[in-house]
Amino acid sequence: MLYNVAVVGATGMVGNKFLEVLAERNFPIDTLYLFASKRSAGKTLQFKGKDFVVEELKEDNIKNKKIDIALFSAGGSTSLEYAPIFVKYNATVIDNSSAWRMDPKVPLVVPEVNPEDTKWSKGIIANPNCSTIQAVVALKPLHDKYGIDRIIYSTYQAVSGAGVGGYTDLENGYKGEAPNKFPYPIAGNLIPHIDSFLDNGYTKEEIKMIDETKKILHDDSLRITATTVRVPVFYGHSESINVELKNDFNLNDIFELYRNSEGIILKDDVKNLEYPMPIHSAGTDEVYVGRIRKDFSIENGLNLWVVADNIRKGAASNAVQIAEYLIK
Ligand code: A2P
Repeated sequence: MLYNVAVVGATGMVGNKFLEVLAERNFPIDTLYLFASKRSAGKTLQFKGKDFVVEELKEDNIKNKKIDIALFSAGGSTSLEYAPIFVKYNATVIDNSSAWRMDPKVPLVVPEVNPEDTKWSKGIIANPNCSTIQAVVALKPLHDKYGIDRIIYSTYQAVSGAGVGGYTDLENGYKGEAPNKFPYPIAGNLIPHIDSFLDNGYTKEEIKMIDETKKILHDDSLRITATTVRVPVFYGHSESINVELKNDFNLNDIFELYRNSEGIILKDDVKNLEYPMPIHSAGTDEVYVGRIRKDFSIENGLNLWVVADNIRKGAASNAVQIAEYLIK
């Protein structure tokens, strides 16, 4: 069976990647529709070697099309306004923005972790935050086998996570130009600030990681804290994850667990300088886990280093994998 697929925000960083991943994975598409803002209407984008014209996102351009699946990455306000409109015309929306993620009526899904949650969707399925996706893929096998008490996240996030503007700031920063997207230069620097600050001193990105992890792992008892940092890397988020497990563990069993976990590549052989880095993850859909070691400062403590391509597994590929699960 073939499906009519729409990409909303097709001219953006993740939108472009949706097209690349849909083509690569040979998603069964009958008709492809591309939407962006009025500014981009009439522009052409390539999909499998053919030109497709970008349409302005407005209800008149949606209502006469029979869209089965709409992949959204055009910002939160666009999702809030337009996801219900697509659903009204019988599409299933997979939304990459943060707009719907914590809505109790909307499932938040990572296919390796909680694919069953797609079943109770009423039309919108949320794609988690990029940093959360790779974290929960790494944490799920531990949560299932040992139980988790507490998590400390420290992230090192690529500029592409901030869209085309973030990417351009790093590129132009190396030429000595001032930043447009970030509040400070990112070239040769790092910025301990992703998304806006809240009254409690956390950033929204940090709270997203905390709340989304609990929702995806179906565990409100988890105690979690996070510090999220933008670093001068183009693609690939890295995370130091400190986990306090509920039960004692043997390190060899953890290695074995990761050798056999879906969507994970174990890269941990420090004698041969093998550990995950953003350059390994770029262009791939797997989550890389390494630097696995006991945290001797607490009982049942474990340290992990987790890397993934933030635009692929952290965004586009995860959404396309959800779509693949839906049509399976
Ligand atoms: P456009 O290119 O026409 O501005 P990124 O996060 O990489 O900057 O991409 C954002 C994407 O969201 C782009 O495709 C952008 O389209 C799209 N977008 C932004 N605002 C709107 C809007 N109001 N309606 C539709 N698409 C939008």
